[in-house]
Amino acid sequence: MLKKEHSDLITQTGPGTPMGQLFRRYWMPALLAEELPENDCPPVRIKLLSERLVAFRDTQGRYGLIDEFCAHRGVSLWFGRNEDCGLRCPYHGWKYDVTGQCVDVPSEPEGSAFPNRIKLKNYPLIERGGVLWTYMGLPETQPQPPEWEFATVPRTHTITTKRFQECNWLQALEGGIDSSHVSFLHRSELNTDPLFWNARANQYNFNDLRPVFEVVESPGGLYIGARRNADDGNYYWRITQWVMPNFTMIPPRGDHPLHGHFWVPIDDGNCWAWSYEYHPTRPLTEEELTAVLEGKGIHVKTDANYRPLANKDNDYLIDRAGQKAGKTYSGVHGIAMQDASLQESMGPVVDRTKENLVSTDNGIIMARYRLLIAVKALADKGIAPPGIEAEHQKVRSASIILPPNQPFKEAAKDAFVARPAVAPVSV
Ligand code: FES
Ligand SMILES: [Fe+2]
Repeated sequence: MLKKEHSDLITQTGPGTPMGQLFRRYWMPALLAEELPENDCPPVRIKLLSERLVAFRDTQGRYGLIDEFCAHRGVSLWFGRNEDCGLRCPYHGWKYDVTGQCVDVPSEPEGSAFPNRIKLKNYPLIERGGVLWTYMGLPETQPQPPEWEFATVPRTHTITTKRFQECNWLQALEGGIDSSHVSFLHRSELNTDPLFWNARANQYNFNDLRPVFEVVESPGGLYIGARRNADDGNYYWRITQWVMPNFTMIPPRGDHPLHGHFWVPIDDGNCWAWSYEYHPTRPLTEEELTAVLEGKGIHVKTDANYRPLANKDNDYLIDRAGQKAGKTYSGVHGIAMQDASLQESMGPVVDRTKENLVSTDNGIIMARYRLLIAVKALADKGIAPPGIEAEHQKVRSASIILPPNQPFKEAAKDAFVARPAVAPVSV
């Protein structure tokens, strides 16, 4: 369990909150590049860290992320006209450039200096790996652009999707570092999902439902090791990467692509579940790309607003007969919605004072602890949190067979580093 005040501290990310300050030290995925497909295309509304913003791409291809509301009388600039290097409010024609600077107030006399005095809040928006990233903190602490491997490999090697999730970001993250649920909730998908099947190691997941967790600190967060029995007295280790505050990478299976998530707060009751899929040393195959677009693996089919088609309003299309027949463990189809349905079922922010945690929750316990330490260190002493450095971001998860006397942190140390042209360590 977690005290309410501690849970509040790490779940609340609005402006001025300590956790909000921490999130504002990192580049975060904001939009898919496909959402602003061409110059002067329609603007996009986006809420991040409880701030309502509008993104647009101007006539010269520059990206802007600015306050959603016009400085004149508060109209949403989502209705704006994106024209001639700026977004023009359709109410009285005030116009803003990508930096939020007002460049025209057509009702004022020609040559008036008034527009110079008007500037909306703005954040940088840059493209990397098909994702538009933003940094919402102070300019003086803006880090180097993101170095996550999925965003830096050739575009043929990587694909990213996103979906709206109706619960707090931490609840979703906690699912991402909870390796023990895979043997239950997702057990049927290990053999039927094209992004998971045919890995030699899958049998170890089926055969050993009591993984032993060993969680150790990594430079940027945690290595969350789950140990299951393999053959000949050896251990099968699945080691998840969590990098502060909200990046996770699932351990790989066979030669399947690596994959994982970013859990980005929209507000305190909703988040964006970003899901990436990439292979460090080869292009993704047609089959893999098709599987992603069809909502297989950790991806899902959504509507135009990125809300999953199976959602809270239709009970996630639960298939009770399939549940009974063992086709799926929970009755919900697809790994992503199996996770999302259960995480959303806990309510927008789960009451962590009522939990009964067990040893398989060690990863979750330590992640909360590291978040609490980091958020206090930043608030009290101004110490920058882990996960900002490029070296903390160039990481990989791993799955590996080891003899019982070898600690994974040492034995798999090279496997945790993202090295161009070096294949992932996977079973
Ligand atoms: S409210 Fe935008 S120009 Fe008047
Ligand atoms: Fe899951």
